[in-house]
Amino acid sequence: MHPIQQIFVDQFNHSPTVLASAPGRIEVIGNHTDYNGGTVVGACVDRRLSVAIRLREDSQIRLFSQNEGERVDTDVKSYDTQDLPHWTSYPLGVFDELRMIGSNEFGFDLAVDSAIPQGEGLASSAAFELATALALNQVLGYDLSTAALVGLSHRAENRFVGVPCGLLDQTVVGFGKTNSLVVLDASSRRHHNFPLAEAAKLFIFRTHIRHELKYSPYEIRHRECRNALIALSKVIPGIRHLAHLHPLDIKAYDVIMDEVLVRRAQHVTGEQRRVGSFMRALQLGDLRAAGRFLNESHHSSRSLFENSSPELDFLVSQLCANEKVFGARLSGAGWGGACIAMTSPDFSEEDAALVADAYETTFEARSGWWATSIGHGAVIEPQNGLVG
Ligand code: GLA
Repeated sequence: MHPIQQIFVDQFNHSPTVLASAPGRIEVIGNHTDYNGGTVVGACVDRRLSVAIRLREDSQIRLFSQNEGERVDTDVKSYDTQDLPHWTSYPLGVFDELRMIGSNEFGFDLAVDSAIPQGEGLASSAAFELATALALNQVLGYDLSTAALVGLSHRAENRFVGVPCGLLDQTVVGFGKTNSLVVLDASSRRHHNFPLAEAAKLFIFRTHIRHELKYSPYEIRHRECRNALIALSKVIPGIRHLAHLHPLDIKAYDVIMDEVLVRRAQHVTGEQRRVGSFMRALQLGDLRAAGRFLNESHHSSRSLFENSSPELDFLVSQLCANEKVFGARLSGAGWGGACIAMTSPDFSEEDAALVADAYETTFEARSGWWATSIGHGAVIEPQNGLVG
């Protein structure tokens, strides 16, 4: 029996009708470009979250989180007016979106169990949304496409959870393929998968600083980018996305904006170009060159976008000092969370442990790390045994 099936049965005393799982993701490059209409590259990690769901015949909604050790009971009539624990906003936000399609009056039982570290920039929330969306889509018989489920999960995050995030997390978690990167053009919402060369290994190094996006300066950066776009559109009519400008445009008009906005815009426009250069380097099989763009991306996040932290800077500089590392950078929103390293296959567990030891000596806290393979996106899981 799938572990989430057992958790569900223990909690609710009947069997789930559908199981779904979804992975966490790393942002490989394209920092804060997605909500600026730019290109971003991500990949699924090999740790997943699972949900089990059964539709009810009354209007109750019962949610159980194995990780939180918490059960929350609410109702179809009041789930959006109550002050419920933060973790419930992910499945409830997805349910809320689906109700706009089908005005469903029945509630459901849901259990969730996650192996994705939370609050570390690995998109555990998008995994929760996509797994819930896939499972509810099935039990409600909606037959929506993956693109529709990605879209409604993203809207759930924007509206119900209240974070103005871009499309990166939900797209990668929804469309990720084993051993492949997901390359998303956020302005057209189109993506493609690009196989990562076997000669590149990916490591995740975690800082001990955790936070949810909702409680980070994410919204402030989002607003700053918007204000930069508004200011620039007065002198460059017709522009719709900050990422579509050239770094020289920002230089040309830097006097019309506050210096902080100039730096944010320099980061976004420079990062957009780095994403292109990174992908070209990968196409040419030049992993060293690709790695340099990762390092440059981190440098820009640190100095221009100011979304790094001493812990992330420390990990990146330790990693870059090892010649088996092609490149390293913070991954995701920033301000803590995790960083990634793209390395040659001979970067060993001993090499990684040395970095973690140095971190522990400096910050008196552990940096967990793992070598991740690139996993696949969200799926419905088969159910074994017990039905009824
Ligand atoms: C978070 C958001 C994404 C993206 C990154 C930064 O992960 O959810 O949409 O903006 O930060 O690139």
